[in-house]
Amino acid sequence: MSTHNGVKLPQSHAVYPGSFDPPTNGHLDVIARAAAIFPLVTVAVVVNPQKRSPFFVLDEREEMLRRCTSAYPNVRVDHFRGLLADYINRISADVIVKGLRVVSDFENEMAFAHMNRSLSNVDTTFLMSDSSYSFVSSSLIKEVFLQGGDIAKYVPAVVLECMQQKRLAHGRK
Ligand code: PNS
Repeated sequence: MSTHNGVKLPQSHAVYPGSFDPPTNGHLDVIARAAAIFPLVTVAVVVNPQKRSPFFVLDEREEMLRRCTSAYPNVRVDHFRGLLADYINRISADVIVKGLRVVSDFENEMAFAHMNRSLSNVDTTFLMSDSSYSFVSSSLIKEVFLQGGDIAKYVPAVVLECMQQKRLAHGRK
């Protein structure tokens, strides 16, 4: 706890969860904004993303995030399996951070926020990513990349390099 005029102030530990398969410039924008607000930000990579088999394994997703966030001393990278609410309780975090790109994101996120608060009494704060990232998502990035499109504008250089290496490892052009 820090103090202001003798009043104890909470130090918030924020958790920014996601699949990060792969991390995009939109994710990095949200991380930078969260790091400027919260004393500690844990970027929490879900072990098994729902709905799909990941392009990158967990270690790769974590390593890319570590390299991309090394400039932020108050950002750490971790992973979790199972419910986010249980992970939040386990590490005694105070708040969840989610990024919003467009209004439809909020419609989905509202139910998640209510469920997480109901499960763990933790609130969710929403940070709007820069509007230039409003159409950037990991799934779209993968689709464009796998069809030979140029994704250099949408992901950090570290991520682009890892994607190119993965394509080479799979014997694709
Ligand atoms: O980057 P994504 O895939 O949009 O991230 C989704 C994520 C990981 C934040 C969400 O699927 C999640 O919280 N998964 C953990 C399981 C869980 O707690 N489900 C209930 C959510 S209310």
